Amino acid sequence: MTLLHWHYPTEILVGENASSQLVSVCQTSSIQRPLFVIDSSLANTQAIQSILTACEEASLTTDIFDSFEGNPTGEQVESGNTAFLEGKHDGIIAIGGGSSLDIGKAIALVAQQKQSLWEFEDIGDNWKQADSTLIAPVIALPTTAGTGSEVGRASVITDTQSQCKRIIFHPKMLPTHVILDPTLTVDLPAHLTAATGLDALSHNLEAYCSPSYHPMAEAIAIEGMRLIKLYLPIAYTDGTNLQARTQMLIASSMGATAFQKGLGAMHALAHTLGARYNLHHGLLNAVLMPYVLCANRHYLHEKMQRLSHYLELEKEGFDGVLEWVLGLRKQLHVPHSLSELGINNQEQEVIASQALKDAAASGNPIHLSQEQYQAVFNFALNGKLDL
Ligand SMILES: [Fe+2]
Repeated sequence: MTLLHWHYPTEILVGENASSQLVSVCQTSSIQRPLFVIDSSLANTQAIQSILTACEEASLTTDIFDSFEGNPTGEQVESGNTAFLEGKHDGIIAIGGGSSLDIGKAIALVAQQKQSLWEFEDIGDNWKQADSTLIAPVIALPTTAGTGSEVGRASVITDTQSQCKRIIFHPKMLPTHVILDPTLTVDLPAHLTAATGLDALSHNLEAYCSPSYHPMAEAIAIEGMRLIKLYLPIAYTDGTNLQARTQMLIASSMGATAFQKGLGAMHALAHTLGARYNLHHGLLNAVLMPYVLCANRHYLHEKMQRLSHYLELEKEGFDGVLEWVLGLRKQLHVPHSLSELGINNQEQEVIASQALKDAAASGNPIHLSQEQYQAVFNFALNGKLDL
């Protein structure tokens, strides 16, 4: 497999065993004392051990921070800041799924600032308060193909006080280098391959549907969906297929590149439910996907027509896309309703109100009211499509 070298949207190395280039990437980035931010379940794997050994042999001073879980919290970012400062680190190497990459980027932004994390919430020009010279460089190595956080300029962090997720943003949070190495993803179990892969689909799909004008992002989104259509079922059934794993990593980076155009109600609801129930973000998007599509269907006619042609679906237009999404979810054994994830209707009003306020809501094709969010939530809860 050829090693490719890309510069959009950041510097990206793609290919089998691309992670063996990490030391030279550190040298290019002038990182001598990297803090590894790694999912604790990965820290002892052979792949990570060889990466650490290579760094030691190159006389890099390393430490590992792994005191966090899925849906990382503000408190966990604080602990990471302490580890960064105590170890006098000069860069972050974030390895793992979305949680590792998001918390790694947040630590890089905030560890050396005088402001606290929440002061960089993605509201107005908050990010301009940061001293950009104090933001540490980040090298990102995703081990799942879903979040695309490796090419994003934001992190999603849970505020445990108000039980919501907040988006932390700064343009310099974009990793300086990304390494897409399919060998790091082969051990991902099938159910997580499905959930993360469908998160990547939700990014491409919501970005494509979002009404703002960005033809480049739109073009990336439809090709991202084509790759997912071709390769997600293969990666799900044969996790060792390196071609499928590579293409899914690329589709995932494409999704996050595309969603600079906007997200929508899938993510508005998934953020809300993820913060309240601590459920997997990709799985929530996967379950919510057809219900949100149905809520937006009257505004998507022309776009779905084009998409169905590009994806060469059996049926044209919105119905063709919906049928494909439902079929793919079924093939990947994704539950059809939120109730199957243990969610109930007791907090439906609060959930709808919180989703309405979520930053992702503004990218939805139409403005959904609180009542409409509540209706979508109830359809998804009960597994009934509003056709
Ligand atoms: Fe997502």
